[in-house]
Amino acid sequence: MNYPDYRPRRMRRTAGLRRMIRETRLSVDDFVYPLFVVPGSGVEKPIGSLPGQFNFSVEKATDAAARAADLGIPSVLLFGIPERKDAVGSEAWKESGIVQKAIRSIKKVRPELVVMADACFCEYTDHGHCGVLHDGELDNDASLENLARTVVSYAKAGVDVVAPSGMLDGFVGACRESLDEESFDQVAIMAYSAKYASAYYGPFREAVDSAPQSGDRRGHQMDYGNVAEAVREAAMDAAEGADVVMVKPALAYLDVIRAVSDEVNLPIAAYAVSGEYAMIEAAAERGWIDKERIVMETLTGIRRAGADIIITYHAPYAAKLLAKG
Ligand code: PBG
Ligand code: ZN
Repeated sequence: MNYPDYRPRRMRRTAGLRRMIRETRLSVDDFVYPLFVVPGSGVEKPIGSLPGQFNFSVEKATDAAARAADLGIPSVLLFGIPERKDAVGSEAWKESGIVQKAIRSIKKVRPELVVMADACFCEYTDHGHCGVLHDGELDNDASLENLARTVVSYAKAGVDVVAPSGMLDGFVGACRESLDEESFDQVAIMAYSAKYASAYYGPFREAVDSAPQSGDRRGHQMDYGNVAEAVREAAMDAAEGADVVMVKPALAYLDVIRAVSDEVNLPIAAYAVSGEYAMIEAAAERGWIDKERIVMETLTGIRRAGADIIITYHAPYAAKLLAKG
């Protein structure tokens, strides 16, 4: 493989040659599209920090899910903003809760669409923490009991995949056990296994009004300096029965995606979070970057790092670009 016998540029000469030797391809099949569901009807409120994304009431979220399905996107991930918040986040496991309603409504019109639902309490508690507090500290095991209730109520509504996102110890095992006890052994778990304490979640917290009233999430989300710990977390979740393990955020953590996908023999999801989307949108709006090319390059980079599934707010945009060819 030495110059001049080998000339790498030979295979880059034409578009056809480049197409033949491309190693990583992006497909609409890789995408999961997140949706934010709010109470009320006829609501389609733009989220300021996520241009092009909305807070939808159930029927509007259903329309958005149907449009995503029409673009060939296989899956949506639901987040709910409840009617009322309380100290434990009890609306999360209510039969008539916002996410439960959205699951039923979407499954009714698009049974083939894979419906995933985020399961955490920060959107549901009045203090904005991811579970039950005890002396100001997150009570891990008490929160697990509520998480178990929540995922069972999602399952009763017809969810395909539950996505516990609180980074509580033992959260996958608690979900698997409660789902199996209630005969939902076919409901899958996508674990937020390596979720970092990240400033990239800023716009999301505005969208769902879930910023903690005091303190932060560093006691349960991971320190951004760590990668071996991410592999450990993902391996634990696999052992507890996760069907998919996730790394989140994506762009600043491509090495983590690579490490986890090398070590864990499960499908790997990467969540391109709100801050990643907002940065691209803001720069594109100013004409500083070419949005089409940046979106494709970024999403392909996430796949190349080892992600099988990409959760992205750009899913419909990228699906349209892929369809255009
Ligand atoms: C917690 C949750 C968060 C995100 C998804 N699930 C935020 C957090 O931990 O504060 C972030 C998603 C994003 O930024 O796009 N339920
Ligand atoms: Zn949370």
